[in-house]
Amino acid sequence: MGSQLNRRDLIRGAVGWAAASTLSAWPTRLRAQGANGDVRIGIIGVGGKGSAHLKEAAKLQGVRVVAISDPDTEQMTKAITALEKAEYPHKVTPHKDIRKLLESKDVDAVIVATPNHWHALAGIWACQAGKDAYVEKPVSYNMFEGRKLVEAARKYKRVVYHGIQRRSDLGQQEVCEYLKSGALGKLKFVQGPFFRLRESIGKATEPLQPPPSIDYDLWLGPAAKEPLMRLRFHYDWHWFWNTGNGEIGNNGPHQLDLARRYLGDPLPPPRVLTIAGRFLYDDDAQTPNSGLVFYDFPGAPLIYEFTNLPLKPGVKAVGNYKGIKEGAVAHCENGYIAGGFAYDNSDKKIEVPGATDPKKKFKSFTLDNGRDHLQNFINSVRKRELRPGLKDIEVGHYSTCLCHLGNTSYRLGKEAPPGAILEQIKGNPQALATFERMKAHLSDLGIRLDESKAVLGQWLEFDAKKEVFTGDSAPEANKLLRRAEYRKPYVVPDKV
Ligand SMILES: NC(=O)c1ccc[n+]([C@@H]2O[C@H](COP(=O)([O-])OP(=O)(O)OC[C@H]3O[C@@H](n4cnc5c(N)ncnc54)[C@H](O)[C@@H]3O)[C@@H](O)[C@H]2O)c1
Repeated sequence: MGSQLNRRDLIRGAVGWAAASTLSAWPTRLRAQGANGDVRIGIIGVGGKGSAHLKEAAKLQGVRVVAISDPDTEQMTKAITALEKAEYPHKVTPHKDIRKLLESKDVDAVIVATPNHWHALAGIWACQAGKDAYVEKPVSYNMFEGRKLVEAARKYKRVVYHGIQRRSDLGQQEVCEYLKSGALGKLKFVQGPFFRLRESIGKATEPLQPPPSIDYDLWLGPAAKEPLMRLRFHYDWHWFWNTGNGEIGNNGPHQLDLARRYLGDPLPPPRVLTIAGRFLYDDDAQTPNSGLVFYDFPGAPLIYEFTNLPLKPGVKAVGNYKGIKEGAVAHCENGYIAGGFAYDNSDKKIEVPGATDPKKKFKSFTLDNGRDHLQNFINSVRKRELRPGLKDIEVGHYSTCLCHLGNTSYRLGKEAPPGAILEQIKGNPQALATFERMKAHLSDLGIRLDESKAVLGQWLEFDAKKEVFTGDSAPEANKLLRRAEYRKPYVVPDKV
């Protein structure tokens, strides 16, 4: 089948590959177990991540991908072409409109891999339609939506997973147990580094017209209709507050979730401060590309440290913290854990007493980055695990709350010179050290903070039980807990 045919079939509304010839090419192991035994999956959003999920789900035993949905017919054509190339033997129905997919009685569970502004609403609608759901990170575009998604999961008794896959990494569970055992002494603080290069997204001279293959009203969903001042339609929605949550909400959920796990999964902290900025690039993006968020958890603070900028001008290399580019480092009285190894405070790997096998000489943990997360979701769907512990949506909601807290502090902040910033963090040695590193890094790139100012966020006070801000910043901060307006009919309801 050529792509022409795919397009025609897309318009008609259904594509199938049940032909015997293709069946024989598909490994026996991967064939359907029979109509009643399979978990039938619909994938909502088939961009970069949705396509990766499609590929993975199509290979899982006892799973049948039966539908995909995307307001961009080009994206669906690409997804279908990929399935065709892999000679996928089952009928997959494309739906431009998510609501059509959710109406389908043939779908048991969905994977939501849309842009962030759709995550919670798609998850809520899935629960209301009686489907289980795997909702990508961040699980919500704002805190209100995340709570409503949790409420929907409970009310409709659905299995709802978050897409923070490292929660399925059993090695990280061992790290948590090791920390809890006190082997390295008391936990003092957790550092959450994220160092990944991103280029400038460029600067548009006029609003971007959505490509004709896209039903833009559907794509936009609950977000406000405003001119798209960017060059690329897909993916770059991350860097605009109307649809995305910046890097803090993009990769932040992974590092912040791991850090929260090391801390023993506390509720969000009572105080937060962000210091960040968009440096080096004069482009359209609204979200910061370097900075830190200080989470004042009682007992042991968490410092998130992120940058999308290179180590030095003209190189592609990025920095690291204790050898870690993306992750979390748990610092205790007598050492720390980074990247699956335990170290003492002079950065030496801790030896296992009496180990004879050279491979087991050092205290280490086998990490797999949560490669079984989707399989675990399927297992939970089968077992009807309505609150599957670490992977349950509420866990994802709390970790996503950390992103929203960091972004809210930033969005209420103002540019400030280094002296004013230092004044705000002088009682916090880890925040100070992180800020000094940020300053030195920017200086290596030729950026002086007294000339190109960073944004000093507002110190926010937060009541985690009620999920509202308190204190002086509360009136402004509470406005950012939810959208001022949801574009009808794409409304996240107060009552799910
Ligand atoms: N867990 C992970 O490690 C991981 C990795 C990458 C991305 N993600 C998450 O996956 C999500 C998607 O990221 P991406 O990189 O694929 O973005 P993308 O922009 O490439 O793709 C998003 C797709 O969703 C479609 N879409 C928009 N509205 C929709 C709707 N109403 N119904 C169905 N489809 C809709 C878009 O047309 C697009 O094809 C993001 O939220 C991202 O944070 C998670």
